[in-house]
Amino acid sequence: MGRRGDWGTRSHSPIRPFTILERRRRVRILFVGDIVGKPGRQAAARLLPGLTEEFSPDFVIANGENAAGGMGITKDTASQIFGAGVDAVTLGNHVWAKKEVYPYLNEEPRLVRPANYPAGVPGRGSAVFRTAGGDSIGVICLCGRVFMDCLENPFTIADALIETLAPESDVILVDFHAEATSEKTAFGWYVDGRVGAVIGTHTHVQTADERILPGGTAYITDVGMTGPADSVIGVKKEIILSRFLTLMPSKFEVADGDGFLSAVVLDLDSSTGKATGIERVRRTMSPSGGE
Ligand SMILES: [Fe+2]
Ligand SMILES: [Fe+2]
Repeated sequence: MGRRGDWGTRSHSPIRPFTILERRRRVRILFVGDIVGKPGRQAAARLLPGLTEEFSPDFVIANGENAAGGMGITKDTASQIFGAGVDAVTLGNHVWAKKEVYPYLNEEPRLVRPANYPAGVPGRGSAVFRTAGGDSIGVICLCGRVFMDCLENPFTIADALIETLAPESDVILVDFHAEATSEKTAFGWYVDGRVGAVIGTHTHVQTADERILPGGTAYITDVGMTGPADSVIGVKKEIILSRFLTLMPSKFEVADGDGFLSAVVLDLDSSTGKATGIERVRRTMSPSGGE
């Protein structure tokens, strides 16, 4: 608790053991950051069992928008992620990269794409899940608009979705998939007290600003990537370096090598829908992973 008061208000609350009373109403969610390509899928498969044992989450969510070759997701790669112990997969701006997934987005209720695409596109932008303990978790996925495609306004779409999900959800979590830290921070403040957690995804670099906002919403600007360690946010570093040096276009390829996993553990009170803890997690598969 050495960081208490860093923000001048309530500090973030690390994960800690629970009293018996708290345990009855606690929902613990492990949220895994953007799984990138095969190294990311392998890292999830190898590291999630240990994390599950360590934290005993009631529900596991992963962002899978980069699961298939770094862009998009397929039925096969989604199955691998579910097989690794993930209960629900959120997506992002790369949701449409693999056309074969379009019908699967309609068929698979555990996939949640950004909600602020125009009406009529495949899939669902929110869903309510139930844990083995009987708590209901509303999950909303939204894309930001700063330096990204101009989708519907995520702030006003959130208003409507929270109103829709609230009656049937003990807790609500938003995956806010966005580029700009300002937009993510603003969104956290906008929904503070109305959802249990806002987890930023998309930039693939874990930020150290996890906290519980004054209204009770756990917030982190970006949970970080689950992908190849020796890369530029998942892509072969040689390709990105060449692009910066020459400004010539080049095809992105996922980097090889061992992956690492980035996540947050969230504790939410199912009687209030508010957060009581948020803690960053990073695990590597080998010493070359940089930890
Ligand atoms: Fe991503
Ligand atoms: Fe993205």
